[in-house]
Amino acid sequence: MKSVTLHSLRDCRARGEAFSCLTAYDATLARCADSAGIDVLLVGDSLGMVLQGHASTLPVTLEDIVYHTRCVARGKQRSLLMVDLPFMSNADTGQLLRDAGQLMRAGAELVKIEGEAWMADGIRELTRRGVPVCAHLGLTPQSVHQLGGFKVQGKADAEAQRIVDAARHLVDAGAAVILLECVPRDLARRVRDAVEVPVIGIGAGPDVDGQILVMHDVLGLNSGYVPRFVKNFLHGQESIEAAFRAYAEAVHQRQFPAAEHTF
Ligand code: KIV
Repeated sequence: MKSVTLHSLRDCRARGEAFSCLTAYDATLARCADSAGIDVLLVGDSLGMVLQGHASTLPVTLEDIVYHTRCVARGKQRSLLMVDLPFMSNADTGQLLRDAGQLMRAGAELVKIEGEAWMADGIRELTRRGVPVCAHLGLTPQSVHQLGGFKVQGKADAEAQRIVDAARHLVDAGAAVILLECVPRDLARRVRDAVEVPVIGIGAGPDVDGQILVMHDVLGLNSGYVPRFVKNFLHGQESIEAAFRAYAEAVHQRQFPAAEHTF
């Protein structure tokens, strides 16, 4: 069984094959998702909401993420392990490098950071030290209070252009992957065309290279409000592993996301 690497994601992009990504927080479900063929597992700071019950990702600490990274790293075999840098890891470059170092020691193979064009210096320094970076643009949940809620981003022309420019700038600085959250389909396509690295989407439509969802959403576990881009893949399946497999196949066959999941 061949492990998924950054190179595999680049090959998928080159071949026009979509790859599947899913959040994971513990060894058992990571093993299950890995066996189901999920290509990338993300230890997301969404754990603050789905595991800890907070209203946002802001209370999540580096220690929380390190703990869950170790758990997931023990469970997975084939999937690539991406891990979130928590709120304020980007306070300065020294902090960013130290925090990313701890995540890599815990088992991360790719770190994800929220921000915009101003993150270029941090991304350059991480990349220089051999740490591959995914830049998370669009709806960045760590800025929820500044954004005024979990809202679709890039609807206005100027804002859309700013996101395209930021993606280009961060890839020039070394970002190996771009993740776009909650942006209109057209904007996601523009970003995908503007950069040469794999682009992962969540609520960004079908025209990107990979799709990601929060594991609890794939299993239909939510607190009442179901965002438009989410689909319950457990429905009609006999097991959690079958649900993960159904999600991975729907992504690979470009059946998910459909028009009803897209802005
Ligand atoms: O923390 C997380 O789960 C994420 C995904 C929503 C992409 O960042």
